[in-house]
Amino acid sequence: MSTAITRTAIVTGAARGIGATTARRLAMDGFAVAVVDLDESACQSVVDEIESAGGQAIAVGADVSDEQAVTTAVERIATELGRPTVLVNNAGILRDNLLFKMTVADWDAVMNVHLRGSFLMSRAAQKYMTEAKWGRIVNLSSTSALGNRGQANYAAAKAGLQGFTKTLAIELGKFGVTVNAIAPGFIETDMTAATAERMGVSFEEFRDALVAQIPVGRSGKPEDVANAVSFFVGDGAGFVSGQVLYVAGGPTN
Ligand code: NAI
Repeated sequence: MSTAITRTAIVTGAARGIGATTARRLAMDGFAVAVVDLDESACQSVVDEIESAGGQAIAVGADVSDEQAVTTAVERIATELGRPTVLVNNAGILRDNLLFKMTVADWDAVMNVHLRGSFLMSRAAQKYMTEAKWGRIVNLSSTSALGNRGQANYAAAKAGLQGFTKTLAIELGKFGVTVNAIAPGFIETDMTAATAERMGVSFEEFRDALVAQIPVGRSGKPEDVANAVSFFVGDGAGFVSGQVLYVAGGPTN
């Protein structure tokens, strides 16, 4: 019989896309996984897949930008699944527009999900990590943090997450908690499919134009990001903290 303690991981925005693939990956790595997204029922298929592969997971509905919802969700996860010591802040939205057309609602919505959400989730989860003297936080940034036309809100939020990451790394390091960010380039998900649609081009045209700029000559897949998350949350990455890893098929400038 194994005496290894099962660690609990929370992945936000995990009903689909990068979050769903990351949740499945962390379950394969041996974590019990809380699959968190806006709609609890939308998380159930990811939970079912994890369970049928022999893993442990629960579906949790929560808006990460809502303080009370976050408190309730993290307490429920600690009680029902185990005290969380891994957190992947992946939930995200786009409200792209050029500055002169960007509404205050577009600005606030993006800030609230990415920045406020990561802050609230991290603040709620760090308690369990510092108590355990071990923890891992991974924040999803983006190559857009370097600037991207039509994304003043999203670029500011994703750059903000890099400063947030480095600061938490400094504050939490002495408790055995590492905090890192992953900044993906173009990854094929519903989010990028929606961008193609908004731009009025087919997904294939959109993808091919972007791939032409990517040194490794292909688009990114959710697994490319999940592999990097798996590295950061592992025991072997305990001396890596406050870093931003670009997962973009080439260097960034
Ligand atoms: P997606 O749109 O496929 O999935 C995002 C998930 O987050 C959805 O299931 C959505 O319901 C959930 N979500 C949104 N607001 C939420 C809230 N307030 N509370 C809880 N859950 C919420 O997106 P994708 O592509 O999987 O992106 C995941 C993360 O990776 C995002 O943070 C995104 O900004 C980032 N990213 C994605 C890139 C890409 O090319 N797809 C590139 C760089 C970064």
